[in-house]
Amino acid sequence: MSTKSVIVALDIGTTKVCTLIAQKTPKNIEILGVGSHPSHGLKKGSVVNIEKTVESIRTSIEEAKLMAGIDELESATVGIAGNHIFCFNSSGVVPVKNKEINQSDVDRVIEAAKAVLIPSDREILHVIPQEFKVDNTVGIKNPIGMCGSRLEVNVHIVTGKTPLIHNLVKCVEQAGLTANSIILQPIASSRSVLSQEEKELGVVLIDIGGGTTDVALWKEGSLLHSQIIPLGGNHFTNDLAVALKIPHNEAEKIKLTHGTVLREPKAKETYLTVQGLSGTRPREVSLSFVAEVLGARAEELFTVIKDLVLEKNLQDQITGGFVLTGGGALIKNLPELAEYQLEKPVKLGYPQAFGGMTTAMQHPKFSTVLGLLQESQHVSEARSREEKVQEETDMFDKLGKSMKNLFKEIF
Ligand SMILES: Nc1ncnc2c1ncn2[C@@H]1O[C@H](COP(=O)(O)OP(=O)(O)OP(=O)(O)O)[C@@H](O)[C@H]1O
Ligand SMILES: [Mg+2]
Repeated sequence: MSTKSVIVALDIGTTKVCTLIAQKTPKNIEILGVGSHPSHGLKKGSVVNIEKTVESIRTSIEEAKLMAGIDELESATVGIAGNHIFCFNSSGVVPVKNKEINQSDVDRVIEAAKAVLIPSDREILHVIPQEFKVDNTVGIKNPIGMCGSRLEVNVHIVTGKTPLIHNLVKCVEQAGLTANSIILQPIASSRSVLSQEEKELGVVLIDIGGGTTDVALWKEGSLLHSQIIPLGGNHFTNDLAVALKIPHNEAEKIKLTHGTVLREPKAKETYLTVQGLSGTRPREVSLSFVAEVLGARAEELFTVIKDLVLEKNLQDQITGGFVLTGGGALIKNLPELAEYQLEKPVKLGYPQAFGGMTTAMQHPKFSTVLGLLQESQHVSEARSREEKVQEETDMFDKLGKSMKNLFKEIF
């Protein structure tokens, strides 16, 4: 199998590192190998221990390689999050050179929109066009071929702290791969979970991971806002551990098996036996208390999300409501609580199935890595198209030169 037909996605999360290896097929992609390994070197989505992160990445890659029956991999599409990520909207305007808009006009207007002052310790990860305007016509998605004299663009810019981006890239490289592209995690999750129709209608994707909650707001097919909130499933577990005075692993077990964020009537009479800290006896706690602790954290999270939507004045754009994904979204009754607080429809979002995907992969905790794989295919197709255009340009250049030489020789 040629390495050119293989694509790799790497989701380096706070609780797990997940690798997917897939083969490009004429129409789609086919997953060949999956590797998932606990992650110990990240905090709130950022690398804090290089050695531990490299170890987790390496193990997850090896697992995926073994399953796929592939020995050599070159590069991967890597997800990024962490509360160092800062996103904002910008705009640019340029005159159209030859009346009809071409790729170079589009490139120039995007460059103009990028020309904003960014602190020296930050770099741009994405510049995503939202809409183009040609003279007085607004809402254009692709202006190439249109006639006009003035081209404008609104873009969404994603930036991250340079040292933290470099740490992530370094970890990937030390684990034996190069990072061919770095993609903001909620953009990846949106690709695997949301339909085009939802993105058109107006929807907010909320990916609740272990260390962060990643938000992406879409309207008319464009990304209007994205944000990383440094609060995730681990905070729910820590709250339970502190409130019940139990070890972290016991709190995680209780959250996964009995966790809920709503106090249902029968919860008052339901008691759970919990293993106390070392040296203490097992104790009984009411399910109602567990719900109170987890519910308080969930309320805090949805208050932050509601505030950010209000602050950006985007509440009227969300016709399609909110979609919860990520492992942390699976706490019982979370969509119900969210719907009550956010006053919009809320549902759980699962990644859409494609070739080679097992039912085990159709889990909200795999939304990011599956989206990264789809983004990776998209990037690789775009690169092949660019390479083809370049090859054709080179060929015409060569042809032009040899014609010139021929004319010189003849005349
Ligand atoms: N069934 C479940 N019920 C409740 N919580 C769950 C369930 N399954 C997983 N979780 C929680 O999901 C979180 C991990 O989610 P996920 O795998 O999406 O995070 P991650 O990608 O490793 O982290 P991040 O994206 O924040 O860097 C953990 O806090 C875990 O407790
Ligand atoms: Mg994640």
